[in-house]
Amino acid sequence: MAAEATIGLTGLAVMGRNLARNIARHGHTIAVHNRTTARTTALVDEFGDEGDFVASESMEEFVASIERPRAIVIMVKAGEPTDAVIDELVPLLDEGDIVVDGGNAHFTDTLRREQALQERGLHFVGMGVSGGEEGALNGPSIMVGGSDEAYERLGPVLESIAAEVDGTPCCTHVGPDAAGHFVKMVHNGIEYADMQLIAESYDLLRNVAGLEPAEIAAVFRDWNDGDLESFLIEITAVVLEHTDAETGRPFVDVVQDAAEQKGTGRWTVQSALDLGVPVTGIAEATFARSLSGHTEQRSAARTVFATDPEGTPLDDRDAFVDDVRAALYASKVVAYAQGFDQVAAGSDEHDWDVDPGAMATIWRGGCIIRAQFLDRIKEAYADEPDLTTLLTAPYFADAVRDGESAWRRVVATAVGAGVPTPAFSSSLAYFDGLRREHLPAALIQALRDNFGAHTYARVDREGTFHTAWADDLSESEA
Ligand code: 6PG
Repeated sequence: MAAEATIGLTGLAVMGRNLARNIARHGHTIAVHNRTTARTTALVDEFGDEGDFVASESMEEFVASIERPRAIVIMVKAGEPTDAVIDELVPLLDEGDIVVDGGNAHFTDTLRREQALQERGLHFVGMGVSGGEEGALNGPSIMVGGSDEAYERLGPVLESIAAEVDGTPCCTHVGPDAAGHFVKMVHNGIEYADMQLIAESYDLLRNVAGLEPAEIAAVFRDWNDGDLESFLIEITAVVLEHTDAETGRPFVDVVQDAAEQKGTGRWTVQSALDLGVPVTGIAEATFARSLSGHTEQRSAARTVFATDPEGTPLDDRDAFVDDVRAALYASKVVAYAQGFDQVAAGSDEHDWDVDPGAMATIWRGGCIIRAQFLDRIKEAYADEPDLTTLLTAPYFADAVRDGESAWRRVVATAVGAGVPTPAFSSSLAYFDGLRREHLPAALIQALRDNFGAHTYARVDREGTFHTAWADDLSESEA
């Protein structure tokens, strides 16, 4: 078969099929392949008129149909299935060819794969694709890792199919090897925090303010007209105003309250623990999902602690609703500040030189966390490229300062009413910890030195010290 395709894609489940259609729709000849040929046939039969598809039954035929240096996108389940496709592909490739993993791979798998293929003269690209099935078809946000050479070959195609904001594609070369998959992982972690904050806002409006789901939908729709504008806020209104056809009840009341997770949020927290980045919002969001799934423990706890604390009735419901909006925004600033801290820490650790402003730029559209908010982050890093935390960027500092008292009122009201707000309250604790002049960590250092002789630094002079706690309490320089 003549090599006529600009790019190839194997793995035609919904994400892969939609990405292939998006590429074909943008005028690129794309070679398509799937382990089950029926899927390939179905794609061409149903959508063949959308562009130039070159369908192949075998992997050999598929590879032969792609022009050199070949660019081949793998869109199969993360983990072993991806390794299996790589193992099948590599023997068929020539030096300089490019293998792209568009799945939600763990970035350490991408590091391993990139190293292995580099040793065989091949390029391996970990590519984060965000926006779900709809984004894959109509414009995702694309976070591309790998070599400069690979991006030179891939960039024109990927930038043409990505979402666009202000004429700028939501696609960029994030950095070498696993940089793309790493920032996609952190994107998903931020997504978890965003969703948890929205869920806690809903819980407060429902169970403290006493609003019905349809009324809460109207509140979210209103918030979506302001600085909380985002895809997640928008679809929250859609979900909350939906009525279950079968029962006529609010849809949210017929959904089981046990949240699942494919793993990217968990990976984000595990990585943050290794990097020493306190992503408290993302961690609490991830643990809240786990807690919701411990249905046996929950039912036992409900039996033992039957009564809900009597919350004090609200003086002014509208004021509380606005307080929740302010608390949501302030907590969101914390969650994003923490997520961008993790991107910076990962970039330093792996020498990726990731540009945080570029991440905010490509997250403005196409991805699940897309929001007006990302424009403000882009501006913050443009004004101060070495910003140590987003929290102190003037725009966000003002927002948090303006919302601080509301934030405290909401957390206090939630505590009084027995409504769990792990993300709201941990974000407030992070804010208070970060700006505190004297933290109780001094006592922790002293205790560590007492029981483990782990030493400590003093505030009044340089050096490392130990006190002879079991002896005469004298201090010596370690
Ligand atoms: C995206 C999404 C996607 C994620 C699903 C499910 O960026 O398009 O983040 O990658 O896998 O939303 O994620 P969880 O099962 O972890 O919630």
